[in-house]
Amino acid sequence: MNKKTIVLASDHAGYPLKQALKARLEEAGYPTVDMGTDSTASCDYPVYAELGCRKLLEGGGDLLILCCGTGVGMSMAANKIRGIRAACCSDVYSARYTRLHNDANVLCLGARVVGEGLAWDLCEAFITTEFEGGKHARRVGLIMDLEEKDRE
Ligand code: RB5
Repeated sequence: MNKKTIVLASDHAGYPLKQALKARLEEAGYPTVDMGTDSTASCDYPVYAELGCRKLLEGGGDLLILCCGTGVGMSMAANKIRGIRAACCSDVYSARYTRLHNDANVLCLGARVVGEGLAWDLCEAFITTEFEGGKHARRVGLIMDLEEKDRE
């Protein structure tokens, strides 16, 4: 089976973690698409959240990993974009269940919160877990309905 393609993006605070995860993903055989940033020079996380999300939604990859200082700003920005279900996780159980139950397509990580080892475990759990469907599909549908409702 083909390995999932993973899109990555970060701000300056998440840059070192993004680079570390990119190397580990490639070592594990996952194709990656890097949407920046390219250094630790200060930049704005919503810009990179959007770049990563647009790339994912245009079919440039299967899942997206966003890194910033806390993971929170990235998840707030990403969840404003239609079609995105982003989860900020710092425990493996949540990283697994947000795929199983929420069909999350974006994992947000805080480089100032989790170490590289835990971050990799979170990525592995997220990437290797599939959506369970069933009653969870109805609930995910209800989440997505909120996007429409809020436009009315
Ligand atoms: C940058 O200092 C920091 O605010 C950002 O990386 C992120 O943590 C925001 O949520």
